[in-house]
Amino acid sequence: MRITMIGTGYVGLVSGACLADFGHDVTCVDKDARKIELIHGGTMPIWEPGLEGLVKSNETRGRLKFTIDLAEGVADAEAVFIAVGTPARRGDGHADLSFVFAAVKELAKALKGPAVIVTKSTVPVGTGDEIARILAEEGAPEGTSVASNPEFLREGAAIADFKHPDRIVVGAEDERARQVLAEIYRPLFLNKAPLLFVERRTAELTKYAANAFLAMKISFINEIADLCEAVGADVQDVARGIGLDNRIGPKFLHAGPGYGGSCFPKDTLALLKTAEKAGVPQRIVSTVVEVNDARKAAMADRVRDAVGGSLTGKRIGLLGLTFKPNTDDMRDSPSIPLAQALMAGGAVVAAFDPVGREQAEPLLPGVEFAGNAYEAATGADALVIVTEWDEFRALDLGRLAMVMNGTALVDLRNIYDRVTVERAGLSYRGVGRGAG
Ligand code: UGA
Repeated sequence: MRITMIGTGYVGLVSGACLADFGHDVTCVDKDARKIELIHGGTMPIWEPGLEGLVKSNETRGRLKFTIDLAEGVADAEAVFIAVGTPARRGDGHADLSFVFAAVKELAKALKGPAVIVTKSTVPVGTGDEIARILAEEGAPEGTSVASNPEFLREGAAIADFKHPDRIVVGAEDERARQVLAEIYRPLFLNKAPLLFVERRTAELTKYAANAFLAMKISFINEIADLCEAVGADVQDVARGIGLDNRIGPKFLHAGPGYGGSCFPKDTLALLKTAEKAGVPQRIVSTVVEVNDARKAAMADRVRDAVGGSLTGKRIGLLGLTFKPNTDDMRDSPSIPLAQALMAGGAVVAAFDPVGREQAEPLLPGVEFAGNAYEAATGADALVIVTEWDEFRALDLGRLAMVMNGTALVDLRNIYDRVTVERAGLSYRGVGRGAG
C-alpha cells in the first residue's frame, strides 16, 4: 500500500515509521526542511525510545521516505494520513485546524487519482465533513474519500502502542475507505487487535471521549488522594482496592501533581468547546479540567509546608521536569507552574531532568539546571520528585541526606515509601498517604 503521512510530529513520525515497518511504502511530508534534513541525518526531532532505529532501518530498506514537497509526496498515494498539529487556539480553547485545512487544500490539487484521506490528528467532530467539502471545492479526483482514524499512542511508549493496540478505530462512510484501512492495518488485525468500523463522526468523538475519561480517572484519584490525607488513608491502597474490580480497572489511578502533556489538557478543552457549540454541557469534563488546574497550582503549597511554611530564601531541588518520564515533552507539565510558584514565593530552584533540559530551559527562566539528581539536591532545603523517571527510583537516600541542607523529600509521584526514606534521615511527604 502506498501511504503518505503529512506532518512528521509525534503522531506522524511514529505512525509513518511503524506503517513502513509493516511493509507499506510510506512517504512522510513536512514543510520544515530543517526537520526533514535532521531526520535524514538520523537525528529525531522528538525523544521517543526506539524511534531512531525504526526510522533508520526502514529508510535503509527503502520503505520510508521523507520530503518537503507535498505535491510530490501525495501524487500516487492510495491513502494520505493527516497528522499535522491541532494546537488549542490561543484564547478560546478551540482546536486550531488551520494546518489541517491548509494541507487538505494543497493535497486536493496534487492527487493524481482517488485516495482515502485519513485524519490521524485529533480533530473535533465534523472536521471530516469539512475536509470532504474542501476536497470537492478544490477539485480533488472523483472517488476521493475521507476517513477518521484517531491515534491512541502514549508518548514514551508510542511504538509499542502502535504495534500492539487495544483497538483500532476507523470512521468511514464508504466501502472503499473501509477496505483501504483494513488493508493498512491487516498486520495488526492478524494479531487480533479489534478493528472497529464506525461512522466518521463517531470515530472523531471516540478519541475525545477516551482522553476525557482517562483525564477523569486521574482527577478522581487525585481528589481521593486529598481526602486520604485528611482522613489518614493511603491512596495507593485505595487505588489498588478499587482497581482490582474489573469494572474499574487498575490503570490511570496513580495520584500525582495533575496531568499534563500535549493531549489531555488540550483535548478536554476542545471537547468542552464542541459540547458548548452543541448546547450539551459536559459538567463532568468541565470539573475534571478545573480540578486539574487547581491541583497543579497547589503543588507549591506542599513544598512550602514541607520547609516550614515559608519559601523565602529556601533552596528547592526538583527531580524531573517533563510531563512524564521517557519523553522530552514539557507541554503543560506540572513542573512549570510548580517552579514558577516556588520562585515567586522567594525560593531558589535547582532542577535536573534526564532528557528534558533543552526543552525546559527556555520555559523556566531563573531555574538553575543541575547535571544529576545529587547536584540538584546539594544544599537544598527540600527535594521534590516531580516526574517518575526510572533513575529516580533507586536514589542513594543516605547520600541525598548528606548533601542536602534540610531533610524534606516531597514525593509527588509516590515512588518511595515513608519508612525507607525516614530510615535514611530524611522526612517524607507523598501524595495521599495518610496525614503527611
Ligand atoms: C495520552 C493517552 O494516554 C493516549 O492514549 C493518547 O493517544 C494521547 O494522550 C493522545 O491523545 O495523543 P500521553 O499524553 O502521551 O497519552 O500520556 P499519558 O501516559 O496518558 O499521561 C498523561 C498525563 O497523565 C501525564 O502527565 C501523567 O503523569 C498523568 N497521569 C497518567 C497521572 O497523573 N496518573 C496516572 O495514573 C496516569
